[in-house]
Amino acid sequence: MDATVQAGPLRHFLQFRDLSHDEIKYVLKRALLIKDKFKRYQAHHTLHDRTLAMVFEKASTRTRVSFEAGMYQLGGSVIHLTTNDSQLGRSEPIEDTARVISRMVDLVMIRTFEQTRIERFASHSRVPVINGLTNEFHPCQILADILTFIEHRGDIQGKTIAWIGDANNMAYTWLQAAEIMGFTLHVSAPTGYKLDPARTGQPPASVLREFDDPLQACKGAHLVTTDVWTSMGYEDENEERRKAFADWCVDEEMMQMAQPDAIFMHCLPAHRGEEVSGAVIDGPQSVVWDEAENRLHLQKALMEFLLLGRLDDEIN
Ligand code: CP
Ligand code: NVA
Repeated sequence: MDATVQAGPLRHFLQFRDLSHDEIKYVLKRALLIKDKFKRYQAHHTLHDRTLAMVFEKASTRTRVSFEAGMYQLGGSVIHLTTNDSQLGRSEPIEDTARVISRMVDLVMIRTFEQTRIERFASHSRVPVINGLTNEFHPCQILADILTFIEHRGDIQGKTIAWIGDANNMAYTWLQAAEIMGFTLHVSAPTGYKLDPARTGQPPASVLREFDDPLQACKGAHLVTTDVWTSMGYEDENEERRKAFADWCVDEEMMQMAQPDAIFMHCLPAHRGEEVSGAVIDGPQSVVWDEAENRLHLQKALMEFLLLGRLDDEIN
């Protein structure tokens, strides 16, 4: 018998498109309500007595703190595991780990390497599994980024988002979001680091436009965003990436190509002087601290949704 009681069929959040447009709208709205209550010090214990296990196979600051604080604030508790302090580091199969952990907790968040690894975990889990970043996707971050955009500029539908730099886990997640949420993604990456057509397919120009020149990608954008040149797991390529990405630093010239009221985002951690200038990330158009904070509120809404479904009536 399952250790947990769920509101409906088992749902995972392994990539952005695991939620429908309608469900994303609900989670975003719910996150705003939860944030409002948090700011007014009102208790919101919808996950009382529930337990979240977090499995980190890569480093983290924001993801760990936001999930851990978020679960406690919802009235639940958290277990933190890493590869090195669990049997995962001694080659216990991920499937066996999933079978065991998911008999003891209500929800699992994993940060790992290949997407296939989290999929293998999820397919042997009795409880919802959330992607806290894989080599391929970072869906919680993009949900928080969209929440941040909405707070600062309103509806994201019909807007233009410029992605400058590596076609990494963030870029592919933005692309899924563009397809679902109805905005246009401009991508500019150096040769050798562009989006892989085998992964993207052939999205229409209303969804994706690629540019060799990062300045052209920024033209008319409502949001300019970037990420590290070297993602976790690719550190061996650091030196060659530094050379390849030298012209892909988001600076004031790029921001001037965007809409006059364009905002700047970065999932963090950032390297000033590499993918973004200090003047931009610390300047008036940057919303990176709101963006980081929104991981907390958004993920509380997501955890609630995966465990309890829609809570259309305010409770607690
Ligand atoms: N943006 C993000 O996921 O940050 P961490 O790596 O610190 O969790
Ligand atoms: N693309 C980065 C994001 C870090 C939050 C990485 O995967 O390391």
